Amino acid sequence: MPVITSIDDLKRLYKSRAPKMFYDYCESGSWTEQTFRENTSDFDKIRLRQRVAVDMSNRTTETEMIGEKVAMPVALAPVGMTGMQHADGEILAAKAAEKFGVPFTLSTMSICSIEDVAEHTTKPFWFQLYTMKDEDFVRRLVDRAKAANCSALVITLDLQILGQRHKDLKNGLSAPPKLTPAVIADLATRWRWGMGMMQTKRREFRNIVGHVKGISDPSSLMAWTGENFDLTLDWDKVAKLKEMWGGKVILKGILDAEDAKMALKVGADAIIVSNHGGRQLDGALSSIRVLPEILDAVGDQVEVHLDSGIRSGQDVLKAVAMGAKGTYIGRAFIYGLGAMGEAGVTRALEVIHKELDVSMALCGKRDIKDVDRDVLLVPEDFGGRWQG
Ligand SMILES: Cc1cc2nc3c(=O)[nH]c(=O)nc-3n(C[C@H](O)[C@H](O)[C@H](O)COP(=O)(O)O)c2cc1C
Repeated sequence: MPVITSIDDLKRLYKSRAPKMFYDYCESGSWTEQTFRENTSDFDKIRLRQRVAVDMSNRTTETEMIGEKVAMPVALAPVGMTGMQHADGEILAAKAAEKFGVPFTLSTMSICSIEDVAEHTTKPFWFQLYTMKDEDFVRRLVDRAKAANCSALVITLDLQILGQRHKDLKNGLSAPPKLTPAVIADLATRWRWGMGMMQTKRREFRNIVGHVKGISDPSSLMAWTGENFDLTLDWDKVAKLKEMWGGKVILKGILDAEDAKMALKVGADAIIVSNHGGRQLDGALSSIRVLPEILDAVGDQVEVHLDSGIRSGQDVLKAVAMGAKGTYIGRAFIYGLGAMGEAGVTRALEVIHKELDVSMALCGKRDIKDVDRDVLLVPEDFGGRWQG
């Protein structure tokens, strides 16, 4: 087993093991990828303030997200097609998250179904909902998540229409992949991936196939999904979805203080400051850059979480120090999964946890709940002077 010391190590191994089509799907942003790049480069601009001669014994990273105890303020973000990065990917990631003590969020666009994940886990996970035009389908999806005992509904608000990722079009992204000569040549070098896929029956979008009328060819489903997102989604509909669910609701994809106030109005239990990992509006600001403004607007009234660009425990520390109550990792856990399956997701969580714990200590803090702006050095112009 290779020695893995960083998320970057997992990424390199993932690149060598997963089919190119799925690596590219993960490792891309929309259009020029400006927002995708700035999600990580903006974290680098913030520095940590070293303190010395402070007792650093008895440290803890334990805290709560929406009232649930977490080993550290990091959840696994919903990632579509996780089961194409590694056979049974969603089940494996959910198991790793459960053992580590952090929340797992299952995407509507997962390969393993809600029921598959529920069957292989013992603690409630979170379910992410994309709203589709077919209201019956949405209702049934919500009912299935309730039946599976999911403890939160994460409603994604920033994807009714797809940001374009050039590589996905060029690669002919589909699940399962269409066996063109280029794909066959690529798969010939990814034997681990192929062996895993041959041994599982979970190779299509199992939350959807068999649950929507008129889909017989699973490979046509990407097109179906693209055409069936509900373009009319508005705050009234969000409020209705909240009512339909009846439990905790997290609104994902908030990047503007005005929208954060609307989220508050509809009674969200938490919001996720997110630009979908730079996959939707290219040219949008990075999540970490807009976080302070959103915290100023609603931070004392609703739990504010953040994702997009987190690749290390230092990044988690920076987001928490700014005021986020929780963070999510998308690509960082996918790198682990694609590299080494469940063990890889566990390794990704261990790497981030150690980085968080040690960096927190070196900033003179022992309890993640005591971490605040005091540990940060933020450039004066970090927020920027943007004119609306
Ligand atoms: C390959 C991939 C697929 C994704 N699929 C979904 C999805 O199905 N639903 C969703 O709400 N967000 C989805 N996202 C966005 C993530 O939930 C999250 O916002 C993003 O990955 C955070 O950025 P990071 O990857 O830099 O951590 C996806 C992200 C990636 C990388």
